[in-house]
Amino acid sequence: MGKKSNIVVGLDIGTSKVCVVVGEMTERGVEVIGVGSHLSQGLRKGVVINIEATVSSLKKAVEEASLMAGCEIHTVFTSISGGHIKAFNSHGIVAVKNKEVMVRDLERVIDAAKAVAIPMDREVLHVLPQDYIIDDQDGIRDPLGMSGVRLEAKVHIVTGAVASAQNIIKCCNRTGLNVAEVVLAPLAAAEAVLTDEERELGVLLIDMGGGTTDLAVYHDGTVKHTAAIPIGGNHVTNDIAAGLRTPFNDAERLKQRHGFAKAAMVREDERVEVSCVAGKGVGTIFRQILCEIIEPRLDEIFELVQKEIAKSGYDGALASGIVATGGSMLLGGAVAMAERSFGLPVRLGVPARVGGLVDIINNPVYATAVGLALHGMKRQDRVIFRGRDDKILSKVKHRMSDWLNEFF
Ligand SMILES: Nc1ncnc2c1ncn2[C@@H]1O[C@H](COP(=O)(O)OP(=O)(O)OP(=O)(O)O)[C@@H](O)[C@H]1O
Ligand SMILES: [Mg+2]
Repeated sequence: MGKKSNIVVGLDIGTSKVCVVVGEMTERGVEVIGVGSHLSQGLRKGVVINIEATVSSLKKAVEEASLMAGCEIHTVFTSISGGHIKAFNSHGIVAVKNKEVMVRDLERVIDAAKAVAIPMDREVLHVLPQDYIIDDQDGIRDPLGMSGVRLEAKVHIVTGAVASAQNIIKCCNRTGLNVAEVVLAPLAAAEAVLTDEERELGVLLIDMGGGTTDLAVYHDGTVKHTAAIPIGGNHVTNDIAAGLRTPFNDAERLKQRHGFAKAAMVREDERVEVSCVAGKGVGTIFRQILCEIIEPRLDEIFELVQKEIAKSGYDGALASGIVATGGSMLLGGAVAMAERSFGLPVRLGVPARVGGLVDIINNPVYATAVGLALHGMKRQDRVIFRGRDDKILSKVKHRMSDWLNEFF
């Protein structure tokens, strides 16, 4: 199979599935030319717990995408999530050296903002600038070239467990892939499903997957808050399996075919077939009973999301409402239930902003993988490989790109 130089690959390692999106970079943006998806078996609540099983899923998904795209896959942008993710806002102040803000002043102020003590077992995944203040003027988006003596930066810092990120990189490397960047999953999903206007006006992105429910709050075009709640659709399925005493796979099928978020909206006399109920053979149950199992778990997840919104301090500032994505939002009535719970308009987020195989990726389960490819396109100019033993090489590359930035 041939090599292509203008491709960018998003690899979403989720709790339910691993998914690869191959994008071709054109002047119009990213055209999706290959998609591969395979059941994920090595993760729990968004975190890799079995390397062998994850690698085996990765190999299958990569092979599928590579065959469809007709090219080899060597480098990927991949996602991270899980209960270990912790994010907070910080700020830094520096004196502007030559009375005019230059690239090195920006780097110094970002360094100052991220100079916070974090435990040895955690690493900084993202430092996202929110706002720059020069002297006392705030609200500056692009301070480069502006005059002033004091530069202040407000940033959002995302940290995660070193071991979790390393395990993701290890899985990719063992699949024969280089990792260009590990991106927080909801930030990637946001790339694919949010519009620029929503990010400006204020929006909450919810990505409800199988093992985690990830969040990102945007306002004024920047990230204000992120969080990963380690509960998702798999917990709903587990509740059904336990409540009806049916195997997980049957419970999953039942949820997808007959599940509904609001039990009171389901007809009282409607019955559905279950291939194994109460440990016995085929039987029927009232559909309402199934939905009575689903509803409290969704309520619990939405309550936890509400707490995060309150924590962010942006509960009154989400003018564009909520964009909800991830496979669990496909549950019947989930979007309407979210609207009632949060008292805000909610729309289902499906990947947009790409061309090519749109029929395949027109599904919320692909939001993160498509977003990773879009993010990758933005970053193509300064790819730094992570993992393997190329730390020195990456540092040199980083230095060189810094020098080049300063010169040009
Ligand atoms: N039609 C449907 N109705 C209800 N739930 C669904 C439907 N389709 C998928 N799901 C649920 O979506 C979840 C998987 O979503 P998704 O593919 O976004 O997760 P993931 O990215 O693999 O996991 P995570 O992001 O949590 O690590 C599963 O819990 C599955 O039961
Ligand atoms: Mg996901």
